[in-house]
Amino acid sequence: MNLLRGMRDIYSPEIDKYDFIIDTARKIFSKYSYTRISTPLLEEFDLFKRSAGDETDIVSKEMYDFFDKGNRHIALRPEGTAGVVRAYLNSNMHKINPVVNWYYYGSMYRYEAPQKGRYREFSQIGVESFGIRSAFQDAEIISMALEFLKTLGLKDLSLEINTLGNINSRKKYIEKLKEYLLDNFDKLSDNSKVRVYKNPLRVLDSKEDDEIVKNAPKLIKYLDEESLNFFEDLKKYLKMFNINYTVNENLVRGLDYYQDTVFEIKSSMLGAQSTVLGGGRYDKLLEDLTNTKIPAIGFAGGIDRIALLIDEKMIEKNEEKIFVVYFENTKHKLIEIVEKLRNLDLIVNFEYETKSFNSQMKKANKLGATKVVILGEEELADNMVSVKDFKTSEQKKVSIDNLKEVV
Ligand code: HAM
Repeated sequence: MNLLRGMRDIYSPEIDKYDFIIDTARKIFSKYSYTRISTPLLEEFDLFKRSAGDETDIVSKEMYDFFDKGNRHIALRPEGTAGVVRAYLNSNMHKINPVVNWYYYGSMYRYEAPQKGRYREFSQIGVESFGIRSAFQDAEIISMALEFLKTLGLKDLSLEINTLGNINSRKKYIEKLKEYLLDNFDKLSDNSKVRVYKNPLRVLDSKEDDEIVKNAPKLIKYLDEESLNFFEDLKKYLKMFNINYTVNENLVRGLDYYQDTVFEIKSSMLGAQSTVLGGGRYDKLLEDLTNTKIPAIGFAGGIDRIALLIDEKMIEKNEEKIFVVYFENTKHKLIEIVEKLRNLDLIVNFEYETKSFNSQMKKANKLGATKVVILGEEELADNMVSVKDFKTSEQKKVSIDNLKEVV
């Protein structure tokens, strides 16, 4: 039985990193007043088409979409923002109390060519904030993302920012860009040749067309004053937060819903798939979907990529693992002792079949026990057990009524 391409089974110790990432996110994001939302894996195909954009790679090439038994066109979510936006609108919060901060995590699906750090099933942890348009908030959300990644012990991170302006000024720019790309069509890579017609902005982040991109018209020249001021404010606030950044004027992101601020946090340790986290503002999306004028911003980090960067030492737990050794004539006390130890929140193992002392000690070692609790006949007669510490080799006796002393 084969695992599907681009899918993985993840288990301990690797999965411990995933738990660590989510626990850390919960702690950090809640300090900034974010609460958790969970949305379905399956949504209507149209939701992604209308939000991410039907000319994007994600929607046009990478969707896991199908018709269900009721002949509905549905898709496994390729990203989290669309579902969260739908939930926000469905909940009617925009009418009652529009400012809502949510975080979420879970599996996403994209039919991409798998490689290190790029899978067809992957996990994201993201946040979405509705109801505020402020460059100060953009800087704060970037600051929160960096705090999150740094708390996980990630190093060598770099922040890139850009502005995409508003939809109208971008439209004018896209026309100019398309003209320029068509003039240089023969020199473009095959991928970009397709993109010129479908999604010309994406040519800007093509790695194969550096020369052409270098001389392309610049988006910033087409932006209106409000967008330019917003971007200047963002830079000012980032400085106030003491955050270093570079402006990457070719950073356009792979989804259509962005406007003004976009950003990515990259790691130099990941090779080709270097973007750990990305996001931006999408002030027009809710209006486009349901005529609700609510500004919004968010980001998502790739949990699998973050896990690749986490040093195992960061999650080494200082936990005691107890192995209980017993004999045929002390077996009747085993369950009571094991339960008492587990009630102390200790990890407890034992053999199900009575084995020799040596064989049980070997097993304890194999399982990485830190201490062995021995139920010897003599000890039990005194209502005691023996405790051997594997680290110090010390042995002591502890009363069964006071098993806390085991640790
Ligand atoms: P995205 O840049 O498409 O943005 O994905 C965010 C992150 O998910 C990437 O930076 C990367 O770490 C991870 N990622 C994406 N594709 C894969 C893959 N195939 N395998 C492993 N990791 C992957 C979004 O999805 C937006 N929804 C982010 C956002 C939220 N913007 C506003 N709010």
